[in-house]
Amino acid sequence: MPRQILVTSALPYANGPLHFGHIIEAVQTDVWVRFQKLRGNDCLYVCAEDTHGTPIMIRAQQDGITPEQLIAASAEAHSRDYAGFLIDFDQFHSTHSAENKAWTDTLYTTLRDRGVITRRSVRQSYDEQAGMFLPDRYVRGTCPRCSAADQYGDSCEACGATYSPADLKDPVSTVTGTTPVLRDSDHLFFKLGDFETMLRDWLKTSGLHESVRAKLGEWFEAGLKDWDISRDKPYFGFEIPDAPGKYFYVWFDAPIGYIGSFAALAARRGLDFDRYWRSETETELHHFIGKDIGYFHTLFWPAVLHGAGLRRPTGVHVHGFLTVDGHKMSKSRGTFITAQRYLELLPPEPLRYYFAAKLTGGIEDIDLNLEDFTARVNSDIVGKLVNIASRCAPFIERAGGHLSETLPDHALFVSFTEPRERIAQLYETRDYAAAIREVMHLADKANQYVDQQKPWIVAKDPARVDEARAIATQAINLFRVLLVYLAPVLPRITQTAAGWLGERAFAHWDAVQEPLLGSALGKYPQLATRVDPAVVKQLVASAPTPAPTVATAPVKPAKAAAPKAAPAPTLEPGMIGIDDFAKLDLRAAKVLEASRVEGSDKLLCLKLDLGDHQRQVFSGISASYAPEQLVGRFVVMIANLAPRKMRFGISEGMVLCASGKADGVSEGVFLLSADSGVQPGMKIS
Ligand code: 2FM
Ligand code: ZN
Repeated sequence: MPRQILVTSALPYANGPLHFGHIIEAVQTDVWVRFQKLRGNDCLYVCAEDTHGTPIMIRAQQDGITPEQLIAASAEAHSRDYAGFLIDFDQFHSTHSAENKAWTDTLYTTLRDRGVITRRSVRQSYDEQAGMFLPDRYVRGTCPRCSAADQYGDSCEACGATYSPADLKDPVSTVTGTTPVLRDSDHLFFKLGDFETMLRDWLKTSGLHESVRAKLGEWFEAGLKDWDISRDKPYFGFEIPDAPGKYFYVWFDAPIGYIGSFAALAARRGLDFDRYWRSETETELHHFIGKDIGYFHTLFWPAVLHGAGLRRPTGVHVHGFLTVDGHKMSKSRGTFITAQRYLELLPPEPLRYYFAAKLTGGIEDIDLNLEDFTARVNSDIVGKLVNIASRCAPFIERAGGHLSETLPDHALFVSFTEPRERIAQLYETRDYAAAIREVMHLADKANQYVDQQKPWIVAKDPARVDEARAIATQAINLFRVLLVYLAPVLPRITQTAAGWLGERAFAHWDAVQEPLLGSALGKYPQLATRVDPAVVKQLVASAPTPAPTVATAPVKPAKAAAPKAAPAPTLEPGMIGIDDFAKLDLRAAKVLEASRVEGSDKLLCLKLDLGDHQRQVFSGISASYAPEQLVGRFVVMIANLAPRKMRFGISEGMVLCASGKADGVSEGVFLLSADSGVQPGMKIS
């Protein structure tokens, strides 16, 4: 029986652009959802804009627009960015919607009628000029403990003290710059303490990571306090039905947004609402969140649901914070990278892959190291995974375009399909890092197979074209198994590969057991390209793109990630055109042997492997390299340079070096190094 699963990620606030912190969570969730679907489960993924609260109201005022305009522009920008990262929501809705209003009212009145809402007076800072109560963050002043100036109303960044705005010295409202007064007002509270026994019980059965459980234990120890769910007008949100002038606090209606979004989906698709929100056994409910909002999702939210007669979550999956190059993302360091900025420069899948390769299912922070990012995705996706297919596709095309009817090494194929349950279990428990390690280990094995079988040598003999095709069939089948395992992470590459190997090849996790044999292949497509480190540097080199949610000007349409076609070039003296460049046959070559040349103090004689043949090249690098340093390393060579007869023998090409004194210090010649994944004979372009 397929499982019926409803999945959510945290609702992004409608007052700022999506950044990498949002994207890692969306990727973590989307990978899990795609994995469930690939396993044949019935999995739905909903999310929404989180639209209410004082910051959104004030931001709209500052921008001279209505909150509705602000949240509409934000929804458009967020939807575009999520789509850019291939996040496949079944429903992306809004908390400012009819469905959410109806469900917020329903939950509140049910809780009230069950006696778990209480009312009491609260003293708060009030801005008389603006005519509004001030959230703590909108009051600044001098820290009562260390006297640091210009601190927030709830905590001091200088000494770490926490306090209430009433304790602050010289308080100032950040809305008008006036001195706030203290004023009393009635508020509504949810009696969280009434749910302690239920929560302790839920904790035992729900799918919470042990570190989250431990945190909950601490919260129980500290005691569960009543939770203020109301705010006074003016407030952008839903007015409380039996309390005119009072509004639901944004954090009350935000998680109800999960329900509202599902309700909209259910109406579109005719789904049974009660099955998903009233039964804890027929369906599963999984929330993916960051650790800063664990308290809300593991205490308030299950208690609110239970109190209102609805089901509690099956799992709350908490991830750590994202750091960039070891630091908290920061605007001043340029590491506050927005989704839009990334998508202007790079395709989505390298980042999806990198994030997935870092996610373990635990709550530790995740570091995006930009150098490691480039090296890792180029090595794994292009150098290892796609390399298997790209090296072997020509031998199928040359043999008529059909895969062989049998596999030459069935046992090898089975060794790739056999770990599928183990890998599935790693995805299920959100340890994508371990799943990817397993897959890349297999990718190394597949590349070794191709290296050993050398189809390019076999294919040279016209009588052995079928043999080369069989080797390629084997390798392409290994590639296909690996890509099924990675399909949740790399949906676009998978889709492109499906155009080549057929849709059915990627339709189901368990279908990997059946090898692809005898079928006609489409034309081999380009599956992935390398990430250019110079482009990655631009992610942090320039200021982030300004927030797209200011709706006074129309929101900029998404830029296509693909480069625009360049106008026909005009050749200035000294320039060459692309056709001239194409005449050069640049190749990666591996040094098999290197020796000094008798009678020359400049030259080394290199024997080079170009994959399907070897060359002898004399190279003037002996002042910079000892022969034994060179054996086994890669060089770049011009492979179609006419052979030159030298005093010592024939030189069949030229090895390229960097030389000169560009930095004013280094002198000499330097060979260029190759990334892992480069193979002898690969074309350099
Ligand atoms: O922390 C945030 O960004 C909130 N907007 C998340 C809300 S998630 C849920 F509770 F709705
Ligand atoms: Zn202080």
